[in-house]
Amino acid sequence: MCGIVGYIGGQTAAPIVLEGLGKLEYRGYDSAGVAVLAAGGLKVAKQAGRVRDLEAALPKRFAGKLGIGHTRWATHGAATDVNAHPHLDAEGRVAVVHNGIIDNAGTLREKLTADGVELVSETDTEVLSHLVARSEAETLEGKVLAALSQIEGTFGLAVLHADFPDRIVVARNGSPLIIGVGEHEMYVASDLAALVRYTRQVVHLDDGELATITANGFTTFTDTHERTHKQATTVDVVAEDYDAGGHEHFMRKEILEQPQAAERTLRGRLDERFGTAHLGGLNLDPRDARSIRRVKILGCGSAYYVGQLGASLIEDLSRLPADAEPASEFRYRNPVIEPDTLYVAVSQSGETADTLLAVQEITRKGGRVVGLVNVVGSSIARACDGGIYLHAGPEVAVASTKALTTMSLGFALLALHLGRVRDLSIADGRRIIEGLRRLPDQIAEILEQDEALAEIAHRLAASESLFFVGRVRGFPVAREGAQKFKEISYRHAEAYPTSELKHGPLALISAEVPTVAIVPHDELTDRNIGALHEISARKGPLVVVGHADVDLGELSATRIDVPRNVPELDPILLTIPLQLLAYHAALTLGHDVDKPRNLAKSVTVE
Ligand code: AGP
Repeated sequence: MCGIVGYIGGQTAAPIVLEGLGKLEYRGYDSAGVAVLAAGGLKVAKQAGRVRDLEAALPKRFAGKLGIGHTRWATHGAATDVNAHPHLDAEGRVAVVHNGIIDNAGTLREKLTADGVELVSETDTEVLSHLVARSEAETLEGKVLAALSQIEGTFGLAVLHADFPDRIVVARNGSPLIIGVGEHEMYVASDLAALVRYTRQVVHLDDGELATITANGFTTFTDTHERTHKQATTVDVVAEDYDAGGHEHFMRKEILEQPQAAERTLRGRLDERFGTAHLGGLNLDPRDARSIRRVKILGCGSAYYVGQLGASLIEDLSRLPADAEPASEFRYRNPVIEPDTLYVAVSQSGETADTLLAVQEITRKGGRVVGLVNVVGSSIARACDGGIYLHAGPEVAVASTKALTTMSLGFALLALHLGRVRDLSIADGRRIIEGLRRLPDQIAEILEQDEALAEIAHRLAASESLFFVGRVRGFPVAREGAQKFKEISYRHAEAYPTSELKHGPLALISAEVPTVAIVPHDELTDRNIGALHEISARKGPLVVVGHADVDLGELSATRIDVPRNVPELDPILLTIPLQLLAYHAALTLGHDVDKPRNLAKSVTVE
């Protein structure tokens, strides 16, 4: 969603800011803008459309050694030139870029209008520039603090003021902001992707924290203007992680990177000797772990579906009751927070607002939450009491692939860890470890079926509507398969437990409606095949994703076979071909695979 970039130093700011904005495109946006400050005052260029269009339209004279830029995902007001950020005050001396939502913008707009201020946009953000400009404080920091004291809502923001040409003031409350430290130049961004080309030394602001950034450094302070003392840390990502690296799409690159991503998630965490997983970051000693009576997993979209897979892994290995729930619904049902429940928040970006708010609801009520998060230092990771970093590496395509696979592995590690402080035997622990060690190579084996999968996807893409079905451990796989397919192919893809077909959806089966069925070799294989006969009898085309030793008998079906692992881990492998089916279907239909319509990589609003 929205993105912020800022620069101050010895170079011309605009190209650096625009380059950074380009790196944030993957998050999803519909307009972009940049403001620079030079001797002649503030200059602003902004418009609806892509960053490259803004760049092309930039006036020739757009110099200035400090600048801020923004990519906007419309919330308050349409995606127009006027609503694009930065927003200025009436005199054109203050420029503000803002991520988040100002809840009391309506009231503030009324007050400002009553005071004779003419607001030109429909946005909530514009009030901020007027409030900063109207403050009588003597410093820019004082003016920003005065403006923020009137605001209710969430923000990550950056402010330029023509009277203070040596600084950018930034603030964070519920929307990420990262300062990048260079040599006599400094950067700010809402996402590492915009920074890593220039520096790997970063400072994450906390909620309620502000910073003054000058060419030679930064100072951080609280919203009551007390100094905080932050040290820069080195991030372990590099600029190339955000390049497609010769691949046609990021999604393809990320699918192919899965064997290495899986290895990174597992590295240093498996202990054959005791048949367990070492997860120091959980901050859960064995006594704590033993006192847990239930596990509740919270995530959104695909992270929620992986959470369902995680719940079954935890139940299987630790015999603790576990379930997953959409984080977006959780806090609105006034959930009972139990002291002996372990809450697990799962998120690739670590910035999904619905998941973050669920975490905050739990911690506010005294519950214990751990995170399974990919992005180090992200808001969810920081809001949790501990967790497991996934180490998938940056994921750029909106449709999540490698991050989801590493989430499943994260759940397998957690399940193993909890199981081994409870009743899972050492032999079973070692069996799971042996299965986990085989997974990266098995994923690579599946990826070799790319061509065959492309051909199947090509046929599936011709149908307006599809079913994805699976049972028990296979059902989250089916849900994720349908999600991936609909996200990027825009075909109607619906997931059902195979056992539920006869209770309704069978009415929709016809020669025009194919079913992708998850049929591993397990205790339910025969029942699964029984249901497939019911589909086949109604002429429904079948694609069966399973194991080579599943005997389909007389059934006419296209087969996709994956290698067998241990039954608990098989769902992880069964998910991989579904990613490639979705990818190739989207290609066949000529869609923008990496940036599907209406979707954003990181959903930072409720
Ligand atoms: C996955 O392909 C989707 N883009 C989406 O469902 C995603 O999983 C969801 O928005 C949660 O994102 P997160 O993992 O960053 O929290």
